[in-house]
Amino acid sequence: MMLHSQGNYGTVEYWDERYKKAKKNLFTEWYCGMRELRPLFDPLPRTASIIHIGAGNSQLGFQLYDFGFRSIINVDISPEVIANMQQSKMTLSRQGCEWRVADVTSMAEYGNGQFDISVDKGTLDALMCSAGSAAKVELMFHEISRVLKPDGGLAMFISFGNHMKRLNHLRFGWHVREQTIDKDGRPYHIYHCTRFPARAQRPPTAAECGGAAGADPRPPSPPRAAQGPEDAAAPRSPQEHAQEHAQLSADPCLAAANS
Ligand SMILES: C[S@@+](CC[C@H](N)C(=O)[O-])C[C@H]1O[C@@H](n2cnc3c(N)ncnc32)[C@H](O)[C@@H]1O
Repeated sequence: MMLHSQGNYGTVEYWDERYKKAKKNLFTEWYCGMRELRPLFDPLPRTASIIHIGAGNSQLGFQLYDFGFRSIINVDISPEVIANMQQSKMTLSRQGCEWRVADVTSMAEYGNGQFDISVDKGTLDALMCSAGSAAKVELMFHEISRVLKPDGGLAMFISFGNHMKRLNHLRFGWHVREQTIDKDGRPYHIYHCTRFPARAQRPPTAAECGGAAGADPRPPSPPRAAQGPEDAAAPRSPQEHAQEHAQLSADPCLAAANS
């Protein structure tokens, strides 16, 4: 399933309406599922507290629970989908896998440094395809960064956007590593963004950037023109591409991983 530029993917009204039409107890998985994502979670400590951003009616939260994680808060802006998921048998049989309404651009209900890991599949893309995307995305990153532990908190973004369209936004004092996975011949991009403590001012080593299981050793792919309606929020001019490319090559993680 891909996002298209029609519809306002950043509003509660749009998603509530959409989830109202969806059958109860029917799950939807955007992009890819646990089968493809399992290697990303394999190396992570099962004691980690997870916030799953824009969870929708994805089964990922349940599957993370079954994979051994015991503290998972699934949040979504749509009260409709959260109510459905709260009543699901899948939730009732998994204590510690919770569903709550929250807007990722403003998560005052969660404290600074509360979570070890945040996982997003498709919500960054939804905000980037919505009206006023730049401000929303900025707020989203600010909030995710805030609720993550400052010393090694990990934000994972699973996106259809390649680094030319996403990486320049992912600059919140995070060290970023990109990985690509394939689902039915379509590439999806995983951005592993780690918060480092203020004292770690040195550039990260290649091992820190690319040492984890499943790291993509390939150099970043060259810029490509925006291709479809799903690219509506992507910068388009050659100047913007050149600027992004310059920023990309300055990224300490990618530089280390590619040297
Ligand atoms: C493309 S869907 C992805 C759903 C799910 N993560 C998956 O992979 O199947 C985007 C989700 O983000 C939610 N969303 C949109 N804006 C949001 C916001 N500001 N805060 C939290 N969730 C939001 C939508 O309600 C929707 O469920």
